[in-house]
Amino acid sequence: MNKEFDVIVFGATGFTGRLVAEYLHQRYGAAGEVRWAMAGRSAAKLEQVRAQIGAPASVPLLTADAADGDALAALVARASVIITTVGPYQLYGEALIQACASAGTDYVDLCGEPTWMAHMIPRLEAPARASGARIVFSCGFDSIPFDLGVLYLQQHAQQRFGKPLQQVRGRVRSLKGGISGGTLASAMAGIEAMERDPALKRTMADPFALTPGFSGPVQPEGDSANYDAWSRSWTGPFMMASINTKNVHRTNALLGHPWGRDFLYDERMLAGDGPKGERRASKMALVSRVQNALIGFGPSRALLRRFALPKPGEGPDRKARESGRYDVVFTGETDDGQRLRASVRGDRDPGYGSTAKMITESALCLAADPQRAMAAGGVWTGGSAMGMALVVRLQERAGLSFAIEE
Ligand SMILES: NC(=O)c1ccc[n+]([C@@H]2O[C@H](COP(=O)([O-])OP(=O)(O)OC[C@H]3O[C@@H](n4cnc5c(N)ncnc54)[C@H](OP(=O)(O)O)[C@@H]3O)[C@@H](O)[C@H]2O)c1
Repeated sequence: MNKEFDVIVFGATGFTGRLVAEYLHQRYGAAGEVRWAMAGRSAAKLEQVRAQIGAPASVPLLTADAADGDALAALVARASVIITTVGPYQLYGEALIQACASAGTDYVDLCGEPTWMAHMIPRLEAPARASGARIVFSCGFDSIPFDLGVLYLQQHAQQRFGKPLQQVRGRVRSLKGGISGGTLASAMAGIEAMERDPALKRTMADPFALTPGFSGPVQPEGDSANYDAWSRSWTGPFMMASINTKNVHRTNALLGHPWGRDFLYDERMLAGDGPKGERRASKMALVSRVQNALIGFGPSRALLRRFALPKPGEGPDRKARESGRYDVVFTGETDDGQRLRASVRGDRDPGYGSTAKMITESALCLAADPQRAMAAGGVWTGGSAMGMALVVRLQERAGLSFAIEE
């Protein structure tokens, strides 16, 4: 299994892929402990990006189009792990992920598109198991801090109480960051797919859409403003909850339900206590409804795409990325009322500055386990494939901190 590269970054010319390449270069250098290459569909654009991030000409540039199965097969054969930031994944991702699953090459992405994941998981499971490829979706802000935050809290609950928390509430305490054109394009591709095939709306609304063969109890609703007595705060909807909650339930399922088959999990934004908190929570719920209405309606979506929103390739500038941060608190309760709380904090803006570090360290965590001792071939979540090994790595290298709050 001694491949030419530890990691290839596919999509290195895009907004997020460029940040991944920049992080690899700044943290690991060009000829250091990590052997890596940049890949994309345009050699000229790759060359330009390599120069812009200050990487030397010795960093190899590889070309392949996302639709060219033969070129992708040749590409994935050269690496232990592929990082892909070529999205929307539902439009451009299938040939690459299939190539990795067939070739036994590990794969990490930033997919926040649950309907596509639900479609791909059953198709990838058998080839990935046979080849040894570990396929890990959602290795960015959605869903690493949430998936691992719950895992971390549950591990501490087991140690302290000898039993899992039957319910966990993820609450975003603060978040400062922006959004890229590629992320918006992915959200819109998901909405357009649901317009073409209304059955996908059920998948999107189902918290157990990513646990084929298992459906747990009704989960707390997330769309309105409500008061959370555990947090002593009003709360409003959190836009990433729909993907994160599905991944958290998938981690529980893939680990054999250590948190119970009746586990409850939801995510919301904290708005504060008192009348001011109530007003803020109501505003969050209103903004979320308006946003959903605007992007859910074809003509307003077209206008937003044309005039208001960042285009693919665009996103928050360096200053915004570096001044960004996030802080999420997870509170859980056992079936006999014992409570525990943990926080996950990250530096840099969540979707890009921090995400670039999280996906890279996820890839390197897999690359550091060539014997597949951590996880065998299959389709995994970050939490189920890498678990506490990734928690340790993210704390040491990626600016995240996990802590129990007393
Ligand atoms: N989960 C998270 O936390 C998170 C965070 C950030 C991003 N994301 C996701 O990551 C994805 C990328 O976002 P972004 O903002 O970086 O997007 P972007 O700037 O539009 O980049 C897209 C990349 O895909 C490449 N590409 C498009 N079509 C291709 C093809 N046919 N063959 C090869 N490459 C192709 C583009 O190449 P060219 O440069 O040649 O056009 C570019 O490198 C999106 O799906 C987004 O939702 C998720």
